[in-house]
Amino acid sequence: MNAMTFDAETWIAAGEAGLPAAIALRRAIHAEPELGLDLPKTTAKVRAALAGLPLEIREGPSTTGLVAILRGPANGRTVLLRGDMDALPLIEDTGLDFTSQSHGAMHACGHDTHVAMLAGAARALCERREKLAGTVMFMFQPGEEGWHGARHMLEDGLIDPLPDAAFALHISPNMPAGAFAGRTGPLLASSDKLRIKVIGRGGHASMPQDALDPIPVLCEIVTALQAMVTRRLSVFDPAVITIARMEAGTTDNVIPEEGRLWGTLRTLSEQTRATAQEGIRRVAEHVALAHGAKAEVEIDAGFPVTVCDGRITDLAQRTATHLFGEDAWITMPNPMMGAEDFAYILQKAPGAMAFLGAAPEGGDYRTCCALHSNRMVLREEVMARGIAMHCAMAEAALSGDLEL
Ligand code: NI
Repeated sequence: MNAMTFDAETWIAAGEAGLPAAIALRRAIHAEPELGLDLPKTTAKVRAALAGLPLEIREGPSTTGLVAILRGPANGRTVLLRGDMDALPLIEDTGLDFTSQSHGAMHACGHDTHVAMLAGAARALCERREKLAGTVMFMFQPGEEGWHGARHMLEDGLIDPLPDAAFALHISPNMPAGAFAGRTGPLLASSDKLRIKVIGRGGHASMPQDALDPIPVLCEIVTALQAMVTRRLSVFDPAVITIARMEAGTTDNVIPEEGRLWGTLRTLSEQTRATAQEGIRRVAEHVALAHGAKAEVEIDAGFPVTVCDGRITDLAQRTATHLFGEDAWITMPNPMMGAEDFAYILQKAPGAMAFLGAAPEGGDYRTCCALHSNRMVLREEVMARGIAMHCAMAEAALSGDLEL
């Protein structure tokens, strides 16, 4: 039994009414993608979309992100809704009418739709603010694609007070159109960058005994890291280490002085992350030492694990099914090993992220082009559901529908 106090029809209608503006905004942002923390054109489009609404705007200084605050008629809880804004550095090849006009940048992760849905929700909630038993923070956030935009906005003091509940949507072409999906606990992985340099001694390829060849050492480190993952980490708290790039040498008859590896570490708990980081250093340094070489290991800490609070995930499930029926929610059996900087918000406040399926018209969600593909396309109509979901989540999180 799904007892929710909000009126589903109100928010379904608001989502549908907001769809044309959301499509227009999404296409405008899609055509002018921007990268990183500084997105002046995207922010200007958000400001224009919010113009005239009864919102208090907070900004700066580290990013062009903004937080728009809507106060309901009553004092109560605060709920944060978040949309990320940045694009990816790749060349678009979708053939869409509103294809990227910036060579080398593309909204391939759907953040253009996240902005459009959040702006649509801001307008719909402003028009019905009497329904809100508290405050809504709309967080428009740049720099999700590895730039730590959410952490910068937290450090800039824009998210104050910390919300009682936080919610974000991420669109996905690889889920049935219009369905929401999520899970309690880890949803996405931590992500750290690895760089390993092995220093040997160059020489003639015919006389390796007079040189110190770094290449066998690099190869041994790659395989030893995979053994370390299976022997030192619990199978119930997994990690992925992928060495994705290897570089050494210039020709067939020269032993190079040094070589390099680049890779990624993904984990689903901070404990395994720390154990794996320490293991990578130990294995690389000592494999090198075993051969008389030297390894230098650098680990750039990326996003933390994205951990969804059970109460907010449950609220998202009840909200989605109250709006759109039982088929509208999918509980994900497993996390995904991608990463997401909404994790920084979820470290500070109870919250959840959900995916919104947007498999394109005529496409099969199992096989169509994934997020980050140069040919990724989405079904824009699902944004009506996204707007409704944001609005209903805000109303529900501020009401007795959410027990904290
Ligand atoms: Ni994304």
